[in-house]
Amino acid sequence: MLDNAQNRPDLPPEIARRRTFAIISHPDAGKTTLTEKFLLYGGAIQMAGQVRAKGEARRTRSDFMQMEKDRGISVSASAMSFDFNSFRFNLVDTPGHSDFSEDTYRTLTAVDAAVMVIDGAKGVESQTRKLFEVCRLRDLPILTFCNKMDRESRDTFEIIDEIQENLAIDVTPASWPIGVGRDFLGCYDLINDRLELMDRADRNVVAESVSIQGLDDPKLDELIPDHLLEQLREEVEMARELLPKLDPQAVLEGHMTPIWFGSAINSFGVRELMDGIANYGPQPQIQNAEPRQIAPEEKKVSGFVFKVQANMDAKHRDRVAFVRMASGHFKRGMKLTHVRSKKPMAISNPVMFLASDRELAEEAWAGDIIGIPNHGQLRIGDTLTEGEALRVTGIPSFAPELLQTCRAGDPMKAKHLEKALMQFAEEGAAKVFKPMMGSGFIVGVVGALQFEVLASRIELEYGLPVRFEQSQFTSARWVTGAKADVDKFTDTNKQHISYDNDGDVVYMTRLQWDIDRVERDHPELTLSATKEMQ
Ligand code: G4P
Repeated sequence: MLDNAQNRPDLPPEIARRRTFAIISHPDAGKTTLTEKFLLYGGAIQMAGQVRAKGEARRTRSDFMQMEKDRGISVSASAMSFDFNSFRFNLVDTPGHSDFSEDTYRTLTAVDAAVMVIDGAKGVESQTRKLFEVCRLRDLPILTFCNKMDRESRDTFEIIDEIQENLAIDVTPASWPIGVGRDFLGCYDLINDRLELMDRADRNVVAESVSIQGLDDPKLDELIPDHLLEQLREEVEMARELLPKLDPQAVLEGHMTPIWFGSAINSFGVRELMDGIANYGPQPQIQNAEPRQIAPEEKKVSGFVFKVQANMDAKHRDRVAFVRMASGHFKRGMKLTHVRSKKPMAISNPVMFLASDRELAEEAWAGDIIGIPNHGQLRIGDTLTEGEALRVTGIPSFAPELLQTCRAGDPMKAKHLEKALMQFAEEGAAKVFKPMMGSGFIVGVVGALQFEVLASRIELEYGLPVRFEQSQFTSARWVTGAKADVDKFTDTNKQHISYDNDGDVVYMTRLQWDIDRVERDHPELTLSATKEMQ
């Protein structure tokens, strides 16, 4: 989809120095630890441990709910900006729990690259594979970090083979580990012909680099025990013979991933990975939109909403829309057009996120992520421009996999419930359907845990106890076609029809057989499991 997968010389330097990416991983592989080290190197936090709280909070279900309640933490971690050398990194957080894959998918529409973290002992795990597939859909460039090399891990060739075979992507080693587990000494940096030695004494100390002239340099004999050096030489020779060479263009096109080995907790390999993101990661890319694409260097400002977070402050019911800037140089106070409603919006208090703080964004360039506080006008998928009617495309909404009926504990509070549910629907936290027949709402989610989180948020944020009950339906499909055809269909299938929060028609059923039948009997209609947000 990113059909300009290359770095262009004509980008203004402020845009060219931006790297906007997300980290994808299976829970526990080390995403939080790596994020923390990124921020540490980026000078955004002073001490390791500030992001930690979040990683730990995720451990148990009840703590996770607590974290959801404590909106402040998850918000400040949603998008973080920091400088690294002459680069500006924008790291966008992906929700860790597999139940939130839709949110994750949308987050990945706002980045230009992903860092895939895998655990050296476990290799490619289920959640890694799922997230990788999402990146693949967009040909997103991927840089890989193989973590926890200070522990017993798998053979290096085995890890690389597994990624190549499981994910069907070429893997090129950017570094090569020396020894494993207790014997892990560090890595040989294949890009810069350097030796990086790990300091086990102080986890926050950046590894010592030793410049050497290739693998025959006699300095190596002094630094590495004989048996490990012999193994290193053999393995690197084999790797250079058997594995593909680093091809920066193939990396940008998403066909090849360079892999760095390290130990996030020991701050080892992190700087090399960051150098890799700077040197091989893509600049802000062209954005697909209708009726034309948007190039980052365009003078006029544009951006799109990929995430909305509501009720960060329960007293004010404010929402923050996270906007990925697609083009131009934004300045605080600018008036932008909200394309969906065709109304101007003065963006007077946009925020940018540092690790533990949010601050006013005086300016932002294509590639940056800003948060715009608003009262609900901004929805996921919305485009902001300086007037042109552009609509960013490719931000999907998936048919929920689980449906339940939601009722207010107090039947008199149905209106309140509707308001609360609509808000969560706008936030993208759930799909809300109003059945044509009968009462109550049908709420659809991708993972079961979301029902619990929703129930607890509705109670906490609206003081409204609710019940989720088994729904008579298990599948939902959006129905599109000529208006007269859709109307006719809804008329004859009332008991299966609901409206989503945008008022669009949805067909609901328990049986796949029903869906097949409708598709067969109604060639004039399209039933689809995804809908583009607009
Ligand atoms: P996640 O966000 O991907 O879920 O992973 P997180 O960073 O929370 O790391 C998961 C566990 O792995 C943590 O241990 C963390 O300390 C550990 N870890 C991260 N990087 C490394 C590494 O390079 N080497 C080793 N040996 N361990 C690493 P925990 O016991 O669950 O938490 P904690 O008590 O250490 O905080």
